[in-house]
Amino acid sequence: MAALRFTPGGVAAKHFAVQHGSGLRVFTIQAVVRRGLATAKPPSSLFAPLDTFPDRHIGPDNAEAAFMLSKLGYDSMDAFVDQAVPPKVRVSSDAITDDQISPLSEFELFYRAKDLGNANKPFKSYIGMGYHNAVVPPVILRNVMENPAWYTQYTPYQPEIAQGRLESLVNFQTMVMSLTSMDIANCSLLDEATAAAEGMVMAFVATSQKKKTFFVDDGVLPQTLGVLRTRAKGSGIRLVVGDASSALGDEALRSDLCGVLVQYPDVNGNIKDFGHLAESVHAAGALVIVATDLLALTMLKPPGEWGADIVLGNSARFGVPVGYGGPHAAFFACTDKLKRKMPGRIIGRSRDVTGKPAYRLALQTREQHIRREKATSNICTSQALLANMAAMYTVYHGPHGLRRIANKVHGLTQLLKVIVESYGFRTTNLAFFDTLTLDVTGAAPDSSVVHAAATAAGINLRPVDSKHVGITLDESVGPVDFLRIANAFAASVKAPTVTLENVPATDSAVAVPQDLFRTSAYLPHSVFNKHHSETEMLRYIHHLQSKDLSLVHSMTPLGSCTMKLNSTSSMIPLTWPEFGSVHPFAPKDQVRGYSKIIAELESDLCKITGFHACSLQPNSGAAGEYAGLSVIRAYHEARNESHRDICLIPVSAHGTNPASAVMAGLKVVPVKSLQDGSLDLEDLQSKAEKHKDRLAAFMITYPSTFGVFEDGVTDACKIIHDNGGQVYLDGANLNAQIGLTNPATCGGDVCHMNLHKTFAIPHGGGGPGMGPICVAEHLSPFLPSHPVIPTGGDKAIDAVAAAPYGSASILLISWAYIKMLGGQGLADSSKIALLSANYMAHRLSGHYSLRYNNVNGRVAHELLIDFAEFDKAAGLKVSDFAKRLQDYGFHPPTVSWPISTCMLIEPTESESLEEIDRFCDAMIKIREEAEEIISGKQPRDNNVLKNAPHPMSVIAVSDAEWNRPYSRQTAAYPVPWLQEKKFWPTVSRVDDAYGDLNLICDCPSVEETAHPDA
Ligand SMILES: Cc1ncc(COP(=O)(O)O)c(C=O)c1O
Repeated sequence: MAALRFTPGGVAAKHFAVQHGSGLRVFTIQAVVRRGLATAKPPSSLFAPLDTFPDRHIGPDNAEAAFMLSKLGYDSMDAFVDQAVPPKVRVSSDAITDDQISPLSEFELFYRAKDLGNANKPFKSYIGMGYHNAVVPPVILRNVMENPAWYTQYTPYQPEIAQGRLESLVNFQTMVMSLTSMDIANCSLLDEATAAAEGMVMAFVATSQKKKTFFVDDGVLPQTLGVLRTRAKGSGIRLVVGDASSALGDEALRSDLCGVLVQYPDVNGNIKDFGHLAESVHAAGALVIVATDLLALTMLKPPGEWGADIVLGNSARFGVPVGYGGPHAAFFACTDKLKRKMPGRIIGRSRDVTGKPAYRLALQTREQHIRREKATSNICTSQALLANMAAMYTVYHGPHGLRRIANKVHGLTQLLKVIVESYGFRTTNLAFFDTLTLDVTGAAPDSSVVHAAATAAGINLRPVDSKHVGITLDESVGPVDFLRIANAFAASVKAPTVTLENVPATDSAVAVPQDLFRTSAYLPHSVFNKHHSETEMLRYIHHLQSKDLSLVHSMTPLGSCTMKLNSTSSMIPLTWPEFGSVHPFAPKDQVRGYSKIIAELESDLCKITGFHACSLQPNSGAAGEYAGLSVIRAYHEARNESHRDICLIPVSAHGTNPASAVMAGLKVVPVKSLQDGSLDLEDLQSKAEKHKDRLAAFMITYPSTFGVFEDGVTDACKIIHDNGGQVYLDGANLNAQIGLTNPATCGGDVCHMNLHKTFAIPHGGGGPGMGPICVAEHLSPFLPSHPVIPTGGDKAIDAVAAAPYGSASILLISWAYIKMLGGQGLADSSKIALLSANYMAHRLSGHYSLRYNNVNGRVAHELLIDFAEFDKAAGLKVSDFAKRLQDYGFHPPTVSWPISTCMLIEPTESESLEEIDRFCDAMIKIREEAEEIISGKQPRDNNVLKNAPHPMSVIAVSDAEWNRPYSRQTAAYPVPWLQEKKFWPTVSRVDDAYGDLNLICDCPSVEETAHPDA
C-alpha cells in the first residue's frame, strides 16, 4: 500500500490515485482531512459566503473528479465532455454561467425566501372550491413531511425494502374505500380535476368508446370543468354541462351518454340527493362519477351507497397544507367491476416466498410501459407522500376524531349561517356541510361591499357574482378566526360587533337532509383505532419508516429517475406558513412572493432549455407530455391544419410518451432503433415522409432512454420540421444537458422537465412531482390557461391541472436549487453526473456487458447493463441481481426498462466517489457470486441470488433449520462494510403473480387481526 502523502493546500490527484487503489480506508482518511469541494474557488473577499451550495451538492471533490477522469484517460473535464456530448449540439461555455444565474449561498437563499414569503400577504382564505386550510398534526409535519426518510424514498417497485410506505399507502386506500363505501381505491392521482378527467375517460372506455357524450353537472368545480374540456377534446368526447337533475330527460342525450359527473356537496355547498339520477344514468348504460369531500362523508351517505361507479376528490384537508394549489393527493375509487380499468397505482396484499404477508404494487400489467399506446392513462408519478400524510392523519385521528372535526366544522357553519341571516343575508343552499352561498341583496348593495369588509379583516371569501358570496369553513377555524369572519359580515352591513359572549344559539339539528345522513360505520380497521396518542403515532411512523430504504441510507441509482440530493436548505421554506397557507385562487396582490418565485423559475427554466416561454401547470412529467402535445395540436389547429394527428415515437421511448400522445388525440406510429440503440434515422425519414400530410409531432428523449447522446438528434428534428411536424423533446434526462446542450439547440419545439428529477424535488415514494413545459416562441400563445386565475398565452388551450401553477409550493424547491447552484454549479453538476456514470461504466466493464455507448465509448449520465448472458448461462435474471443488491444495502437500479434484460444505472452528481465505488464493489462481488452458479459450485435453483433478498427472519434460524448451500454470513454480510452499515429487507422475495390473482387492496379487517383466542 502506498504511503499517504499530502501536498500543502490539498491532495494532488496523482497521489490520490495511487492511494485509492489500495483500499477504501485510505480514501476515507483523505476525505476527512480535506474535502476538496469540487467547485470551490477561494473566497473573493472576507465577506464572501462560505456556505456555498455546489460544494455540498456535488458528491465528488476536485481530487476525486481528477481521479475519475484519469481512470478514463483524460487530463481535463473539457476533454472528457467533448467526447461524451456531440459537438453539434453543444452550447457555448458561457450559455449557463453565474452571470446568467448568480448563485446564492444557503443562508442567502434562506433570507431571500423569507423576504419573498413575507411578500405574500397573510390572508386567511375561506374560498373553498376544493381547497381548505388544513391542520397538519405536528407529529406528521416533522416526522413525515419534513423527514427525508419519507420524502426521499423512491416509488415502491422493490417491495422487500418498501413495506413501510406500502403499508401506509394501503392505509390511504382503505381510508378512501371506507369513507366513500367503494370496493377498491388507488393510492393517489395528481389532483381532483385530472382525477375527474380519468373518470370521464374510464366511462368512455367502458362503453367501448361508442357513446361519446359526457354530462357534467353545473355544480362541479370550475377548474375540474377546465381540465375536462382539454381531455374531452383529445379523447373525442362531447362534453355537455347543465343541471343533471333535469337535463337527462333528453332522450337524444341519454342514448349517447357514457357518464355523468356530479359534485357532492357541490361548488355552492349544496348537498343534493343524486340517488334517482344514478338509477336513470345506469338505465342509460352510463357510469355515475362523483367528486366529493372525505370529511363531509363522515356525515353524508357515501356515494357507494347510492349508486356511484367512480368516486374521486382531493384528500388534502386531511392534514396537507393548501400550498397555493398543492401538492395534494387526489383519491380515486371505483366498483370491483371497473378495477382493471382504474388509472394510477394500486397497492395489493400478497405474500413472500416463505408465505409471510407482504404488500406490493399490484396489477402492473395495466401500466403504460406495457400497454403503451393502448394505455388509457399516462399516470406514472402521482402523489405518494401526500397520500401518506393523509393516511397518517386518518390513523392519528381515527373515525371518532374525524367525526369530531366534521361536527365542529359543520357546527361553526351553522352558527355562521344564523349570524349572517340575522343581518339580512340569505343562504341559498339550505342543505350544507361546510359551505354557504349567500345572497347579499337583502343586506348589502352588492357583493363587493362584503368582499371589501372581508379584505379589511384579512380574509378571502369566494367571489360568485355581484349578488352572491361564498364561504367555506374548515378545521383551522378557531374562535378568533370565527369572530373575524362574522364581524366582516357585520361590518359590511354596519351591524354591531359579535363577541363570544353574544353569539346566538344554533339549531342543533344538522343541515344535512335526513335521507342523506350517514348511518354506516367507517374505518373499523385496527390501524385507525389505536395510534391516537403522539407517542403511539410517532412510533408507528418510525416503525414503518424503518422498513424502507431511501436516500438517507445509500445511493438509489435508478436510471431515468435522477435520485440526487434533495437539500435541506431547499426543503425548509416549503413548510413555512407564508407559503403553505396560500389558497391557489387568492387575489394576485396577496401572492407577490409566489409570483416572483414563479417568474424567476420560469425565466431560469427558459434559459436552461433555450426556449421562450414556460408553463408551470403540469403536475408530473407525463402531465407535461400531455400538455406539450396538446399545445402542438392547438398550434396546428390555429394554422388550419387540425388534420395533423400522427405522432412518431421511438420504440425505446418511455411508456408515458405513447400514452400521452393518445390522450392528446394523436395516433402513434413507432420508429425503430438501430442495433447500437440509436434512432433509426432512415425509418424516421420514411415514416415522416409517408405521413407528411398528417404529421403532427415527433417525441424524442435526449439523451436517449438507452443512456447515450445520439449524434443524429438534430438531423431527426430537421426531418420532422421538413415534413410539417413539431418536435417534442422529453426532458426527463435534462440532468445530462444543463450548460452543455439544451432542447432548443437539439432542434426541439417543446420539452417538459421533471422537476422531481433534475431540479431536486424529492421523489416522495412516488410523488409529488412537477412537469413544467418550455416552448419555442411560436408555441407560446398556446400555453395552458386556467378558468379561475388567468395563465397562459392569448390562444391558450384549456387547463391541464386543477391549480394555475400546479403543485406550486414545491416549485420553491427547484427555485432554491437553481438559485443556490447558480449557472456554474448547474453546469458543473451536469459534468459530474456524466463523469460519475462513465466512471461507473469503466469500473463495471469486464464484469458486465455495457449495452450501448457512443462512438467514443462514452455513455451519458446513465448506463445500461445487459444481463441476458446470465440467463443463458445459469438461468439468472436481471431481477435476481437486483434483489441481491438489497442484501448489500442498495436500492436496485431501474430494472427491465428500457430493455427487459437490462439494468439502467444513474449515479447522479450528488454521490461521492466512495459511495460510487461501494456500489461498484457490490456489483462486482455479485458477479463473483453469479460465477459460482455458472460454474456449478452453487445450484441453479437454490443459491444466494435466487433466494435474495435475505431478511433477518430468514437468517435468524437454528443451524438445523438453515438448509441453504451457503452460509448465513454469505447471505447477510457478503462484504465487510455491511458489518457497520447493514440494512435489512423486512420480507423475502414477494410473489407478484399471487398478488395479482388474489387482489386485496385494503388493510386487514378487525376479524383478520383478531387474536386466535378471541
Ligand atoms: C424518460 C421519461 N419520460 C417521462 C417520464 C414520466 O414522468 P412522470 O413519472 O413524472 O410522469 C419518465 C419518468 O420516469 C421518464 O423517465
